[in-house]
Amino acid sequence: MVAVAVLALAAGGSAQLQQGFYKGKCNGTDVEAVVQGIVKSWFAREPPVVAYLLRMQFHECVINGCDGGLLIDGPGTEKTAPPNLSVKGYEVIAAIKAELERRCPGVVSCSDIQILATRDAVALGGGAAYQVRTGRRDRRRSLASDVKLPSPDYTAAQTTAYYGRLGLSAFDTVLLLGAHTVGATRCAAIKSSRLYAYGGRSGATDPGLDPAYAFVYKTYVCPNVPSSDNNVVFLDDQWSALKVDNHYYRNLQLRRGVLPCDQNLYNDGSTRWIVDLLANNAGLFTSLFPQALVKLSEVNVLIGTQGEIRKVCNRFN
Ligand code: HEM
Repeated sequence: MVAVAVLALAAGGSAQLQQGFYKGKCNGTDVEAVVQGIVKSWFAREPPVVAYLLRMQFHECVINGCDGGLLIDGPGTEKTAPPNLSVKGYEVIAAIKAELERRCPGVVSCSDIQILATRDAVALGGGAAYQVRTGRRDRRRSLASDVKLPSPDYTAAQTTAYYGRLGLSAFDTVLLLGAHTVGATRCAAIKSSRLYAYGGRSGATDPGLDPAYAFVYKTYVCPNVPSSDNNVVFLDDQWSALKVDNHYYRNLQLRRGVLPCDQNLYNDGSTRWIVDLLANNAGLFTSLFPQALVKLSEVNVLIGTQGEIRKVCNRFN
C-alpha cells in the first residue's frame, strides 16, 4: 500500500498541487495578484497574448508535463524544435518571474507562472475566471528530441489518441482545440494541405472547405505565390480571433475550420457530436474549457522536492 503511494508520487501525480499554494510564502506578496497584474497590463498593450499563452501551455504541458522545459534557452532545447519556433509569450513569463524574484527569491516556479498567466489571459480574453492548483516545480531537462507534437493534418482519431495517451478524453480533446478560437497561423500551413494540393493532388482544393471561404483564401489571403506564405490566417474569423468563445465550433459546423485537424473534429462522427454540443451552447464551452485546461496543466508535473525553482526561467540553476 505504502509502495503504491510512493510510486504515485514519484510518477508526479498532482497529490501535492493545491489551490493557493503560494499563500503566505512570498514575504506578504499575493503571488497570484502579481501575475494577474502583469498579464493585465500586457494584454492592454498586446491582446494576442491570450493566444500566445494558450499555445505555450499546450506545447509546454504535452512534452514531459508542465515543467518549464519549453522556456530554456540554448542549443538543442525544446524551444529550438521546429514546431516551437513560432511559440510566443516568453517575455511575459520572464517579466513575471523577475518581479516575483524581486519580492521572494526562489519561491515561485516558472511552470506555475505559465499556468497562472494563461489562466489570467483566458479570463481577459472573455473566457471564464477559474482556479488552478499550484506547487509545480521546474524540470532540469529540456531536449528538442523530446518534442513530439501532434500534426495539423491529424485525423480526429489521431488527435484524440494523442491526448488519450496523456490521460485526456475525447471530450477534453475537443475542448482543448477550442483554444483555436484565438490566434492565427500563416498561409504556408494550409496552402498545400487545403488550398492547392489537397490529398497530394496538384491544384486540388479540399472539398471539405466551405467553397466561399476557399475562394476568399485563394483569391485574397493566400494566393498561390510563394510571397503569400507568411500572410496571416486567423484560426477563427478575424472579428472573433481575439475572443475566447465558442465561435470556433460554429465555424467547424460551417466547414470553415482552418487546420485539417480542426475540421476533422467535425468530419468524424466520433467527435462531431461534441462539436455540435459546444457550438450550440456558448455557456457550456465557457464553463468546460477551463476544466480541460486544468487537466492539461496537471499532466505529469513535478512536486515536492523534485526538480528545482529556477532563478530565471530560461536557464537551469
Ligand atoms: C492536435 C492538436 C493541435 C495542433 C495540431 C495544433 C496546431 C497548431 C498550428 C499549426 C498552429 C499555427 C502555428 C503557427 O502558424 O505559428 C496553432 C496555433 C495555435 N494553437 Fe494549436 N494545435 C493543437 C492544439 C492546441 C491546443 C490544445 C491549444 C491550447 C490549449 C492550442 C492553442 C493554439 C493557439 C492559441 C494558437 C494561435 C497562436 C498564435 O496566434 O500565436 N492548440 N496550432
